[in-house]
Amino acid sequence: MHRWKPNLNSPVPLHRQISAYMLERISSGDWPPGTQIAPQRELCRLFGVNRSTVVTALGQLSALGLIEGRRGGGTRVSPAAAGQSGGWHSYLEEGSHYPNLPAVQAINRLEFEPGLIRLGTGELAPGLLPEQTMMQILGELSCQPQLPLSYEEPLGSLRLRKALSSQLASSGIQADPSSILITSGALQGLQLIAVGLLPRGSTILLEKPSYLYSIHSFQSAGVKFCGLPMDEEGMLISAISAEAARTRAAMLYSIPGFHNPTGVLMSAQRRLEVMETTAALDLPILEDGAYQELWLDSPPLPPLKALDQEGRVLHLGTLSKSVSPGLRLGWVVGPAPVIDRLADIKMQSDYGSSTLSQLVAARWLEGGYHEAHLTKLRGELRSRRAALLELLQVHFAGLAAWNIPAGGFYVWLSLHTPLPPHRLFKAALQAGVLLNTGDLYDRSDGRHLRLSYAYASLPELKAGIVALANIIRHWSNDK
Ligand SMILES: Cc1ncc(COP(=O)(O)O)c(C=O)c1O
Repeated sequence: MHRWKPNLNSPVPLHRQISAYMLERISSGDWPPGTQIAPQRELCRLFGVNRSTVVTALGQLSALGLIEGRRGGGTRVSPAAAGQSGGWHSYLEEGSHYPNLPAVQAINRLEFEPGLIRLGTGELAPGLLPEQTMMQILGELSCQPQLPLSYEEPLGSLRLRKALSSQLASSGIQADPSSILITSGALQGLQLIAVGLLPRGSTILLEKPSYLYSIHSFQSAGVKFCGLPMDEEGMLISAISAEAARTRAAMLYSIPGFHNPTGVLMSAQRRLEVMETTAALDLPILEDGAYQELWLDSPPLPPLKALDQEGRVLHLGTLSKSVSPGLRLGWVVGPAPVIDRLADIKMQSDYGSSTLSQLVAARWLEGGYHEAHLTKLRGELRSRRAALLELLQVHFAGLAAWNIPAGGFYVWLSLHTPLPPHRLFKAALQAGVLLNTGDLYDRSDGRHLRLSYAYASLPELKAGIVALANIIRHWSNDK
């Protein structure tokens, strides 16, 4: 171990080099189960890297079940690593796609454990989903003389694209069906853009924090991030100009409508400034409209795509946040050649999104159910938001500050005393509360929590907020 060092000039990130090295030692049998791994500080010194690099590398091995922390006994190669040499294990780190952050893997698993209070979950509670109407639509479809069970055309169902074209027009976006690609959620739109449009080694600008930091679609495609600071009106314009020039950015990604994770709504003025500034820089924009329909206070502002005269904005939408994440339906709107390029890659990835889901969604939009559902949903979200804000007022005054979101799902809680996110996550879990800590959306953040009023029931929200406040008060007093 003393001789090996990561290659600072390699395009492979340092944490991946380190985890690959350790994986090699474990799978070759050099480090049998029970082998003690040197303390993190020692590893930093040996490898000549900083702490977060070592933490990320160890996190990846831990997520693979190859190492485990022992209370009071440091970190060791786990018994589960026995007999795994030479098999698939040695490939697990080799694919081009990065693994999820260990905390995201844990959340993805724990969300299916019954009994936990999900305080940060980014989806609607099952009771807010339009189950009855969907059953009715499915019933109607089952009486049709024919059901489409074949592949769809590359851009997706024409019927759904026509329905979406009218839907988008109501938000100010003029999109011909030929400039809409149906995707499996907005997430697939992001994946297709990452691999299909951006050169490896390029840099994109984005808000910091951002949802995009919590997934690895872009980094896995060799794309780098340059995070821009935000205020209560959205990303800072001065930062766009400065960083675009410095990084020779390929694209700007933004979530202007009820940003994930901060809940910030980009102001009308800021939207105009973003459009003007990026026009002067000739910088393409990827607008993520995942939450834009979920306005709660005042009618929506025009999406950036509605202000776009030049075809410079690609716009992402989804049914996940307002109707059903399980339908797995999203869309990308943009100039036809770009859409065709993305469709061609999509055909090579999955031959199209589920035909049945697309049929259900087309019927949902054509039948006028969408607007009626949104009106009801907004009412529910308003009262959930009020309940969460009241709970915060009672239990977090003096402990944290927070914003009042004008829509979407999220309150961005800013703790007065920063606390290590991993410890907070663990302590909350022991108290039965599942958290989305700020470091998932900005690796250096040790102060924020993303709270969601969309998932937990009101009694759960109360119990969760009380438990969380107790943990934080206890620690803050200790400091
Ligand atoms: C900003 C944003 N974009 C895209 C997505 C992906 O959503 P889906 O793939 O379910 O449409 C999410 C989900 O959390 C999100 O928050």
